[in-house]
This record gives sequence, C-alpha cells and structure tokens, in this order.
Amino acid sequence: MTLLSAIEAKREGRSLSPETIRSIVADFTADRVPDYQMSAFLMAIYFRGLAEGEKRSLTLAMRDSGDVLQFPDDPRPLVDKHSTGGIGDKVSLPLAPLLASLGFRVPMISGRGLGITGGTLDKLESIPGYRTLLPPERIVEIVQTVGCVIVGQTERMVPADRKIYALRDVTGTVPSIPLITASILSKKLAENLDALILDTKFGSAAFMPTLDDARGLARSIVDLGGECGVKTRAILTDMNTPLGRAAGNWLEVKESVECLEGAGPGDLRELTVECAAQLLEQTGKAEDLEKGRKQAAERLANGAALAKWNEMLAAQGADLAAFQKKLSRSNAPRAACEAVSDRAGVVSRCDARTVGEIVRDLGGGRATKDSVVDHEVGVDRLAKPGERVEQGDVLARIHATDESAAKAAADRIQAAFEISDAAITTPVLVCETVD
Ligand code: URA
Repeated sequence: MTLLSAIEAKREGRSLSPETIRSIVADFTADRVPDYQMSAFLMAIYFRGLAEGEKRSLTLAMRDSGDVLQFPDDPRPLVDKHSTGGIGDKVSLPLAPLLASLGFRVPMISGRGLGITGGTLDKLESIPGYRTLLPPERIVEIVQTVGCVIVGQTERMVPADRKIYALRDVTGTVPSIPLITASILSKKLAENLDALILDTKFGSAAFMPTLDDARGLARSIVDLGGECGVKTRAILTDMNTPLGRAAGNWLEVKESVECLEGAGPGDLRELTVECAAQLLEQTGKAEDLEKGRKQAAERLANGAALAKWNEMLAAQGADLAAFQKKLSRSNAPRAACEAVSDRAGVVSRCDARTVGEIVRDLGGGRATKDSVVDHEVGVDRLAKPGERVEQGDVLARIHATDESAAKAAADRIQAAFEISDAAITTPVLVCETVD
C-alpha cells in the first residue's frame, strides 16, 4: 500500500495492516517520506485513533527502528519508571538508586524538559562532570555493575520516535492517546524491561488535565505494555501542586539528595517509595505493597540508596568532591527573594502550572528546543496545601540571575497561592492504580 493510500484509508477510519505500518515507520525514519505526508498521516490518526492491533504494530515498528539494549542473563529484574511529567517531579533521581539498592537493574533512559515540565537530564547536568550521553555498551556495563544508570536516549535508540515526536510537536498531534502510547512504550521496550511503573499525572500542570484523561492514557499503556511482555502498572497522581518544595534543576537535585538521606519533603518520599513498592510487588520481590513500602523506606533510611546514587554518579563521570562542595554552599543563591503571606490562614492552593511558568521564565526551562537552560534558577521553600501560615511567613523563595528578576518572580508567584480561613482536606497524592 502506498503512503497516500494509507493516509486515505486512515482518514476514512479503516484499519492498516502491520506490514503497512512497519513500512511507513521504516521509510519515514530513513528520510524516504516527506514531512507533509507523515503530518497528514499523524493527523488522520489523531482524529480516527488506532485499533489495538495497529497501536501494537506502530509501537513495535518504532521500537525496532533502532537498537534495543541487550543485557546478560541475571536474576535481577530489569525495571524502570516513566512519568508523564510535572513540576518539581524529581522522583527518577532518588528512585533509580533506590531500586538498584533493592536488587533491580535500572536502565533509565530519560528526557529533557520542554515548556513548563522539567526534564531529568537537565537536572542531572547541574551536577559537575555528570555525563548524560553514553554509548549503549557503557549503559549496559553500568547497569550490570552499579545496578542503575540515568542517561539520554542514544542516537541509535528509537530514532523513529525522535523524528515523529518533532513533527507532532509542530503539527498539533501531540495529545493523541495512541500516539503517546506508542511514543512512550517504544522507548521503554527498547530498554528490554521486565517491569514498568507509569506515573500518570493529572491536574493543572499535567499533560492530562483530568483524572479521567489520565486513566485513559494509563489503561492504554498498561494493556499494550502487558501484551508486549512487560509487566506494566500505572499510578494516577495529583499534579495540581508541585511535588516537594523545590522546582528548578539544581534545587531539585539538592532535594533529591535529601530524600536519599531519608529526609526531605514527605510527598517526594511517599511517591518514590510507592513506585519502588509497586515494582517490588509486580516482580514478586515483595509479597504485597505494604511490605514493599517498608523495604523501600528502609533503604532510604539506612543509606543504601544514597550509596548507590554516589556509585552511579561516579560511573557517569561526576566529580563527587565538586558536587559535595556545591551542595554545601547552595543555600546562598546568586539573587534571592522571598514571597511572603499577607495574611494568616491555611494554604489551600499552590498552583503547579503558575510555579512551572515562573521557573521556565526565570531561565530554568526551555521556551524552544534550542533554549539554553540555567541550572541554578528556580523556587524552593514552597508552602504546601494544608499548611498553616502566619502573616509574613514564607510561601516561596525565588532563585534568579539578578535581584530585579527575583523580585518580579516573587510578586508573580503570589498568584499561585490561596490562603483560606478554614482547614482543608489535604489532597491525596496517589489516587488510583491501573493494573
Ligand atoms: N512523552 C513522550 O515521550 N511522548 C509523547 O508522545 C508524550 C509524552
């Protein structure tokens, strides 16, 4: 079938054969298909959707467009987590070493931030010397020796997704459940996993605004992941409020280290432990979730996860002495300004989208793919919903490049907060599991 016939068939809502889908993906990856035809094809999928079999064919064709990581036989299960992204979502940083300390292998291939959503690689690049681009052989070697690695996608992994995503980004075809499913799963399948936990966010700063939307995406990925031989489970988590008390690349690394030291914000610890517990149960390494949570919390409290983190950093080229030095002087930002409450009461809202926009505009995120990220700017000391504040108490502290930017951001962040007279019910972080 020619691509034109395939576009017409999809436009009319007809199904495509696995061979047709495979050849479209292979031809586009090899630059044999013009962008305008691929854009029309993606738009037809956006409106018509894909049947289960087509979604599977697309996902597998994308996975097979490049290298699939190959690991030696080993009793330690290969696992990973994927988050659909949010503000202050730094869970990958403590989770990968925590999982390694629990006897898993974690080939965590991560991405960069775009728009208001932070990216794991941008956070890690604020660590002196840390290398996020490694050849596949080195990725496998670090996973086998340390137990975890957090790197970017290599040139040879899932090139089809890189090209298709770039086109979707500029053709209005990102918010399509079958296309998102294929994009996320093709990358995870290229890691050759035994089990995957998907943190599907919903809320003001999430890709999926409502719980219902998040549930639909989670169901699609969980079902197809399982069909493709990966034990896949999803949790649906609240992204109306930033996770933790810090947003911004370096500030999030600092908070992740606190979590690895058994301290730090409760919600960050809760979600990190929950992801680990789900994977422990999925792979039969814990009898039930409660036992899994206990095992994971112990590894954070006794320093085992922190030791793995330091091993991973060293294996990925980080200068540990310079990192420790940077951690110890990070309480002195270049320019800081506090936003304070103008009244006493209970914090009833700290809007994640507003906080994300402010961090991006301070230079901590990307307005376009080519923007250069400032690793040091951001927000910390965020007050959280449910907390009592007095007049003059700090709601947030801005870290900026200069005093006037800090002051402007501190004024702007007031709009993220609502203070009420009555106590509120603190929002539940992990709302549902999709199995
Ligand atoms: N994240 C991805 O990796 N792909 C998508 O399509 C959307 C979010």
